Amino acid sequence: MKGLILSGGKGTRMRPLTYTAAKQLLPVANKPVLFYTIEMMLEAGIRDIGIVVGETKGEIIKAVGNGSRWGIKITYIEQETPAGLAHAVKVSRHFLGDEPFVMLLGDNIIKAGIKDFVEEFVKVKPDALILLSPIKNPERFGVAVIENGKIVRLLEKPFPPPSNLALVGCYIFNKNIFSACSEIKPSQRGELEITDAIQWLIDRGYDVRYHIIKGWWKDTGMADDLLEANRLILEEIEEDIRGEIDDLTKIMGKVKIGIGSKIINSVLRGPLVIGENCMIENSYIGPFTSIGNAVYIKETEIEHSIILDNCKIHLQGRIEDTILGRGVVVRKVDRRPLSYKFIVGDQSIIEVM
Ligand code: TTP
Repeated sequence: MKGLILSGGKGTRMRPLTYTAAKQLLPVANKPVLFYTIEMMLEAGIRDIGIVVGETKGEIIKAVGNGSRWGIKITYIEQETPAGLAHAVKVSRHFLGDEPFVMLLGDNIIKAGIKDFVEEFVKVKPDALILLSPIKNPERFGVAVIENGKIVRLLEKPFPPPSNLALVGCYIFNKNIFSACSEIKPSQRGELEITDAIQWLIDRGYDVRYHIIKGWWKDTGMADDLLEANRLILEEIEEDIRGEIDDLTKIMGKVKIGIGSKIINSVLRGPLVIGENCMIENSYIGPFTSIGNAVYIKETEIEHSIILDNCKIHLQGRIEDTILGRGVVVRKVDRRPLSYKFIVGDQSIIEVM
């Protein structure tokens, strides 16, 4: 079975980070979200993967390459405009051919992976198998209505939601999906919706089944969800300290530190991960924090945050629930007049005391 990962899109809900980076490459525990998706495919035995790319194509190809690092084949499929998930399926027709394929959104992480899901499809062979998760606030997602053990209706971001079963962003289709994607019309928001394509199949009597997911699943398309995914993944890390820690530093809990990093007179309370070539001095790094490579932190407390590569932080204060993009500088200065000074990109969020 081939795999299709959708990694185009606009990423508007993750601005300003997505002005300068593909959202699928944002890190969770210092690994791009897209890599988790590729590894889920791999674990389910899928070794021929197409990745749909849009305007961040160059960056994604640079980060992922041809798949040799995982021993798999990766083909890039260009989607000229992010015209919807069903549109992404349409443009991938040539790559996918006539065999069933599994499709995953490139910004979703599924704890239990997709092995059981793929196995169920192979056993039952329906026209479509849809992965669902019972959650508290399903109205943010596509929602399924089930009657007598079958999906009868799918609704995109409905309010109020008709059930608590959200579409997880993972589907297996046979070739009938291509007819559905060609027949449907763009939705009110101007996109060819995969939910409409699946509804098209249901309405014409095709066999559309569902599989309920075990364990957590995270759509990392918004800042709070990325932080939450980071928390969930860090909960399971193993200790691995390769950097240098001085005698004054105290370490508690599971901590990962990359080669070339130096920790001086600090407190590290895991679970947390620090990348390579960082310098952390007189600071406290608290649980659920991921710090990228070449980050410099002095006299600062940080907890439940994601700090990308090359940031410099010298705040003499505390940071929580924060995502800093690459190369951000946050520092306290001692000069008059006592005022804040900001040089930030569009749609940044700054909260001060
Ligand atoms: P979404 O998160 O639904 O859309 P988006 O990426 O445009 O983000 P936003 O709503 O914040 O503007 O997309 C889910 C995944 O599918 C994501 O990895 C991007 C990808 N995608 C495509 O590859 N092509 C598309 O046409 C769309 C809409 C999304």
